Amino acid sequence: MRGKFKLQDFKKRKSENRKICALTAYDFCMAHWLGQTDIDFILVGDSAGMVVFGDENTLSVTVDDIVKFSSAVRKGSPESFIIADMPFLSYQLSSERAVENAGRLIVEGRADAVKIEGGSGVFDKIEAILKAGIAVQGHLGLTPQSVSRFGGYRVQGRSEKDAKIILEDAKKLEDLGVFSIVLEFIPYELAEIVTKSLKIPTVGIGSGSACDGQILVTNDILGLTPSGGPKFARKYADSAQTIIHAVSNFIKDVNSGSYPSEKETVRTDQEKSDGTKK
Ligand code: KIV
Repeated sequence: MRGKFKLQDFKKRKSENRKICALTAYDFCMAHWLGQTDIDFILVGDSAGMVVFGDENTLSVTVDDIVKFSSAVRKGSPESFIIADMPFLSYQLSSERAVENAGRLIVEGRADAVKIEGGSGVFDKIEAILKAGIAVQGHLGLTPQSVSRFGGYRVQGRSEKDAKIILEDAKKLEDLGVFSIVLEFIPYELAEIVTKSLKIPTVGIGSGSACDGQILVTNDILGLTPSGGPKFARKYADSAQTIIHAVSNFIKDVNSGSYPSEKETVRTDQEKSDGTKK
């Protein structure tokens, strides 16, 4: 296993030209198993809205939700670098609200940093959070909280004008002091230009291989997403089939009487493990 990843390692990885690998988690068990791998950071994403709640977007997720998920993830993976997503309307309304909510994700959610979607519209909020001493990861391109403005989950930054805005926003975020930027669903060429223009690393999702790292939703790579997930997500396991197979066997064993067996049953006169009678 590689050593545990820290804030300083984001820039270091970029300077050493070594990729950053990240996945999402929302609960204790998944975080535990991710913590047994070389994953560099865990994102407690507001993708929970879709993955955990079954909503069609991320907008319903609240600060309370992310606080709960993040503290469960911390318990599951005490050593991991954990980034908690700031949910829709938890930072847009005022800098005070933004700092207060970011603080909750760090103190109650026990995250190491927060992630914020958006560019020029939220620079002042990001600045305020950074001033409060909280590390921030930026997020540009297809920012899912703006899905209604984008008119759906579409590639962003295709036109010269949009690409220029994303590049300028990325440079400004770096100047403000964010430690890394997620680039979601933008063309390879734009991701490459942004990545080459920054000293901080970019972490891509659906934005091609030129980014300094890659992040995906864990449920997508494990084959748990009922819709199959986005086209850019590679499926590394067919966990849905594993679940269906295991559950079918359980039902079969209960119906046949083979579960529970004698070994899986407690009897009144049985000895306890310390040798005493119950
Ligand atoms: O909410 C999320 O999971 C994200 C992605 C970058 C994976 O923001």
